[in-house]
Amino acid sequence: MHSRFISDNISSSGSRLLFAGQDTVRLAEKYGTPLYLMDEAKIREQCRTYQSAMHAAFGSRYRVAYASKAAAFAHMARIMKEENMYLDTVSIGEIATVQKAGFPSERIYFHSNNKTDDDILYGLRSKVGYWVVDCLEELESLNRLAALENVRPDILLRLTPGIDPHTFAAVATGKVDSKFGFGIETGYAWEATKRALQCENVRLLGFHCHVGSQVFESDVFISSAKIMLDFIAKVKDAFGFSTQQLDLGGGFGVRYLPTDPRPDLEQYIREIGRYITKECAALGIEQPVILLEPGRSIVAEAGMTLYTVGMVKNIPGLINYVSVDGGMADNIRYALYSAPYTVLPATRMDEPFTGHYTVVGRCCESGDIIQPNVSLPETVRRGDLIAVCTTGAYNYSMASNYNRLPRPPIVMLKNRESFIAVRRETLEDLLRLDV
Ligand code: LLP
Repeated sequence: MHSRFISDNISSSGSRLLFAGQDTVRLAEKYGTPLYLMDEAKIREQCRTYQSAMHAAFGSRYRVAYASKAAAFAHMARIMKEENMYLDTVSIGEIATVQKAGFPSERIYFHSNNKTDDDILYGLRSKVGYWVVDCLEELESLNRLAALENVRPDILLRLTPGIDPHTFAAVATGKVDSKFGFGIETGYAWEATKRALQCENVRLLGFHCHVGSQVFESDVFISSAKIMLDFIAKVKDAFGFSTQQLDLGGGFGVRYLPTDPRPDLEQYIREIGRYITKECAALGIEQPVILLEPGRSIVAEAGMTLYTVGMVKNIPGLINYVSVDGGMADNIRYALYSAPYTVLPATRMDEPFTGHYTVVGRCCESGDIIQPNVSLPETVRRGDLIAVCTTGAYNYSMASNYNRLPRPPIVMLKNRESFIAVRRETLEDLLRLDV
């Protein structure tokens, strides 16, 4: 009913904002602010949407790996285990987190573009299921260390298909000048494949690519699939190597503003599936198992951040500020990418949003902006609650202790109940590492 509600888990009752059907004012009273909320049903719904769309497109020859960099903590790993997802992890910290939560090692893909020898040893000893190898140095180290550990890990090579995903530069990863992976155009991908096939202590299973994040066009995935399948066909001709897995990465966009397009995941996947089936037949290659590794689109809409207003300042003719009790330490995405967000007055939902404000944080720098040009009631004042929507991805996972601020807790909302999944940092936590 309300165009302000950009996802179906947001609503209001009188003056109060509801999230996953729960009263945000009560939640803020119970857990304090700043506060990350996460709607567990939404996370599970997204996992299932991906899996059923992939099943419809590829039968049983598919895998969906949640990119845990979007939000990694123990309860999330337990959800992913229950939903039969695979995991894309990018550091030994993520691996340790998900393994401690009981996530099965054989369903873990270990990415990351500059693994140290220590990382490699950790991954081998943790028995992660698959490796995504990003550079020749990593391939050589992995081959050498695997021999010492007496194992033969399964690997994919990360290729750079040379695609511009039309997203913001900091999250475009598949262009030819990218720091990631082996370029196809430059011939590195070919050389790496040749070398991987010679390495005695790794088993090459296939190829990976990821063109960028916050992508809204299925064409981008189809173009990268085309380049990857052409490469796979050439590799088959030249080396007789049959690719078993093709990972097309993550990157599906989500809505941050009511004006953003509403992505239809099922349709995207249907189109990608049709294309891959047709193209594999045309190239005369067996269709590999197809992987996607979405992060943002699994968790973004499941998140909301609540803040309490401290200061409201009007600078006549120039700007109005609303200052909240969090900021760039818990959400750096505007400061880093000028990322848009929908901001709502959680305690004044029944008033007209006729004021215009820049919502800023409590950190000591002018760039600490949560969002400019926000419409809020002109009555907004100290003590009000402000909600920032769609914060489930890359907010907690990119949070810092800048200005020595403790990180907020993550409270899960599930079946009309709430519980703490990550507790609020305390001053003791902050001081713990100082010697
Ligand atoms: N696979 C690979 C290899 C990736 O590098 C990424 C994201 C993903 C999957 C998941 O992409 P997603 O589905 O979440 O778009 N911090 C930025 C996003 C960086 C994404 C990095 N890689 C942000 O806050 O927008």
